[in-house]
Amino acid sequence: MFTVIGSVNMDLTLEVGRFPQPGETVPGRNFRSAHGGKGANQAYAVAKMGLPVAMIGAVGADTFGGEMVAGLAEVGVDTSRILRRETEASGTALITVDGAGQNQIVVAAGANETLTPADIEAALGDLRDCRALLLQLEVPLDAVRKAIELGHAAGVPVFLNTAPCLPLPDVVLNRCTWIIANEQEAAMLVRQTVTSPAEAAFAATALRQRLPHPGLVITLGAGGAWIDCPSFTGHLPGFQVDTVDTVGAGDAWIGAFATELLEGKSVIAAARFAHLAAAIAVTRRGAQTSIPDRAEVEADPRVAAVSE
Ligand code: RIB
Repeated sequence: MFTVIGSVNMDLTLEVGRFPQPGETVPGRNFRSAHGGKGANQAYAVAKMGLPVAMIGAVGADTFGGEMVAGLAEVGVDTSRILRRETEASGTALITVDGAGQNQIVVAAGANETLTPADIEAALGDLRDCRALLLQLEVPLDAVRKAIELGHAAGVPVFLNTAPCLPLPDVVLNRCTWIIANEQEAAMLVRQTVTSPAEAAFAATALRQRLPHPGLVITLGAGGAWIDCPSFTGHLPGFQVDTVDTVGAGDAWIGAFATELLEGKSVIAAARFAHLAAAIAVTRRGAQTSIPDRAEVEADPRVAAVSE
């Protein structure tokens, strides 16, 4: 079983022509609420790619919580280890998406913030049936650390998406099998700007001095990704598409990449497949609502460009 540990949020989204400046009011339109949260989105993406997946997380005992858990169960995610917190609200994310499809997100963690190392230990058990762990940083860092330590000790591959970027000691990061950061997160990790493949290469080289063990991925949005691992180091360009909404595209990328690697694909093939999944996701609105399933990616005419 693939296991995702992370956040479950209700995304409350408005579209704006441009993002407001501090103190400014701008008009918005097309308000919608939809299921999100980086953890839930990635579990959803793995399920859509066809792998058995379980989610560990926490929601409130409110309507949002029940709806979001049901939405994950509907696509086959094992939700039996999502905890319900009687006294907390479910996580919510206030999202604005501008005319170019870029987003700004503010998250109120709510129940996500209550996940403890003891919860993780209890939920993971002896990890005997766990094929991989996938984590992000929208739940408390001590819970994330516990999961990384348990996964590492059990020899289970650990994928860490450093979103949103928060300080984790290098000794913990080094226990991961893969670290996946976007441009902003990579920039925070190395304290340099990362906006191009060349800068990503520079950042990966700097990170490699501190992190000899994990495979490193720096995603570059439509620019693809820079990858640094034993079997491949280099830039894999992405697909140029008309972007409508980038929310959840990174989650689609990670779910597809991790799934393909577990299915035995090469790093290059897995990343190209993930590029295509993300390219499809950005042409649609919302997080989970935009994530394609395997059949859709495989039926895409551009799939020929991702096969080795
Ligand atoms: O990665 C996108 C997600 O980030 C959204 O669904 C939102 O809930 C925030 O967690």
